[in-house]
Amino acid sequence: MSRYLDLARRFPKGFAWGFGTSSYQIEGATKEDGRGESIWDRFATIPGKTHRGENGEPGTDSYHRWREDIAVLKELGATAYRFSIAWPRILPDGTGAVNPKGLAWYERFVDALLEAGIEPFPTLYHWDLPQRLEDRGGWPARDTALAFSDYAGVMLGALGDRVTHWSTLNEPLCSAWLGYLHGSMAPGIQDAQAAFSASHHLLLGHGLAVQAARSIAPKAQMGIVLNVGPGMPASDSDEDREAVRRHDASDSGWFHDPIYFGRYPQEVIDAAGITMPIQANDLATISARLDWHGLNYYFPAKIGNDPHGAGLKTTWDHIDGPKTDMGWGMNAGVMRDFLIKLKNHWKAPKIYITENGSAWPDSIASDGKIHDPQREAYLIDHLTAAAEAIEAGVDLRGYFGWSLLDNYEWAYGYDKRFGYAYVDYATQKRTIKESGRAFADLIKVARAG
Ligand code: FCB
Repeated sequence: MSRYLDLARRFPKGFAWGFGTSSYQIEGATKEDGRGESIWDRFATIPGKTHRGENGEPGTDSYHRWREDIAVLKELGATAYRFSIAWPRILPDGTGAVNPKGLAWYERFVDALLEAGIEPFPTLYHWDLPQRLEDRGGWPARDTALAFSDYAGVMLGALGDRVTHWSTLNEPLCSAWLGYLHGSMAPGIQDAQAAFSASHHLLLGHGLAVQAARSIAPKAQMGIVLNVGPGMPASDSDEDREAVRRHDASDSGWFHDPIYFGRYPQEVIDAAGITMPIQANDLATISARLDWHGLNYYFPAKIGNDPHGAGLKTTWDHIDGPKTDMGWGMNAGVMRDFLIKLKNHWKAPKIYITENGSAWPDSIASDGKIHDPQREAYLIDHLTAAAEAIEAGVDLRGYFGWSLLDNYEWAYGYDKRFGYAYVDYATQKRTIKESGRAFADLIKVARAG
């Protein structure tokens, strides 16, 4: 019986309980069955870019061990699974000929999920752009948005009869700001103009894909997954509070305003001194009605005013207090408040928390178990915040724990463990952690209603 009986009962019946992963982080098999190269395969070859030069091989070898993954999902009591489709498996060159083996893999996987009674929530793009498209300009080039829409059409055509909930992009903020501005993620470029152009073409690709999906599979429920790191003021001063407002404009505002209001925050454009490559009707395409909204939330940010700084004149840091193994601060109340803002300010449709979770330095104890009370505490704090948001009237429909498995944590390689199941990379054995057991107990009570 769950220790969290009262918390479990605060969630409505029919609430989706799921776990998330992404293709590049788990699949491995990067050279198999005709898969093309992705920007992450290439990025990881650049010395110093990823921890020990690690890449998506072997991941959790899920390209071969997907049956084991489904078994773990079942054991956890999941009703839904969020995974992503590797564009370079479907269209190895990004455009042109479809690779039938890649497509067949996802068809078989989706069928197996459905058979197991687990609803598939595929993401079309979780950062693994075909390298061939990057060679032709990547997201800073408008053609990439058109190519994305064509790829979306292929997937909706193949799986639109079986899959209801689709998301277009995962965290375009990270693709644009980390990939093209900070260069800490693939493709590792540091160029403000490229980053802002990328952000627009990512969102345009999203809008075009939503249009394509609706014409191909009218029953598809289309969403987007946006991450946020809302600001908390470094001090009580008016200056720091005002700095938080500017930070939020470039963080959530930059991606939520075009989707919900059909415009970009002008002050961010002015501060960056860039030109937006917007063409007629782009913002109408981007702000097309969404069926659902995916929120990824891990941490807030401590924001201060920096009168001598560049751009938005803000300082950024993690908040004070305990940190996860990523060095990330923790505050669940900020997630609750952001959910309420999604409802009141942006008037988002039904919402899913598509990612939330924490990394800790796990190991297998002498009793064969993985004792991870900190992950469990983080989960409970954030589920409590989610329940509070529901009670405040937010139309929250599901929660996906990040992650189903320990996996390739991008530039951090295999060093950081986010899974509810531990992966021994030498054997690829999966073992559910104690936090996963506690979560499964909670899900069981919640599902019973
Ligand atoms: C998010 C990513 C996800 C994972 C978590 C920890 O930004 O979407 O793939 O790496 O962070």
